Amino acid sequence: MINAKTKLCCIIGNPVEHSLSPQLHNAAYESLGLNYVFLAFRVSDVKSALLGFKELGVRGISVTVPYKLEVMKYLDKLDDVARQIGAVNTIINDNGKLIGTNTDWIGALKALEEKTVIKGKRVVILGAGGAARAIVYGLKTRHAIIHVLNRTKKTAELLVKKFGLEKAYSLSDATIIEKADIIINATSIGMTPQDWDSPIPAKFVKKNQVVFDIVYTPNETKLLQYAKKKKAVIVYGHKMLLYGVAKQFELFTGKKAPIELMEKALLEIQ
Ligand code: ATR
Repeated sequence: MINAKTKLCCIIGNPVEHSLSPQLHNAAYESLGLNYVFLAFRVSDVKSALLGFKELGVRGISVTVPYKLEVMKYLDKLDDVARQIGAVNTIINDNGKLIGTNTDWIGALKALEEKTVIKGKRVVILGAGGAARAIVYGLKTRHAIIHVLNRTKKTAELLVKKFGLEKAYSLSDATIIEKADIIINATSIGMTPQDWDSPIPAKFVKKNQVVFDIVYTPNETKLLQYAKKKKAVIVYGHKMLLYGVAKQFELFTGKKAPIELMEKALLEIQ
């Protein structure tokens, strides 16, 4: 029951109507009987929104496209992870101080580690945007050998420099992709409504590889279909979302996230 003690958490983005976060967080609050509620706000003036959240005592804020970089300007503090990744997807209101962090990398690592060991593996990341940065950060903590491939070489080169990697590659570099132990699609290619598309052709995918697609609409992307056909190990994008949101839930409430229930809720609404 919502009352005067109810704590508010939310997601900001523009657009935000497609977000699955409200259902996930609210399902978890309900199952643990927490007096919390989670809403989505389409925001055009981030600075004013954050000031308002501070005044209203909003407990936690999830940040999505296009604000993961912009919010950083208006926070009281960034933790080390957010600073290193260079993007914020989670804000915690700690007694009136807004602190920015990032849980995307945790989501990606947990999703991958359910299926494979990362240490020492050769990993190809397709894409060099915000998601790719969070994933590279995560993979570095596990001592993977990381190769970044991107359509725009310059963007990949910036990422490579930021994380001290060896060099940037193009998306069509078959040799480097075929030699990888793990392939990660961190671009938006293959996302609904362009779900017929794949960042790489089927022939680049090999049987002994692990293929992880961060796209989760559709649940089984073209790339994952190719990988399944080759009998490669596949990792679904919804797992990254799930574990990233679960970590946010824990930061906002201080309680352990009911993962199974949240996954069920996610698969039902997807
Ligand atoms: P996100 O926060 O989801 O990572 P982003 O920072 O906008 O979003 O990054 C999107 C990534 O997907 C980039 O690597 C982008 O490549 P460019 O740097 O060349 O723009 C990649 N991407 C998106 N659409 C693409 C397409 N049609 N073909 C190739 N790469 C694409």
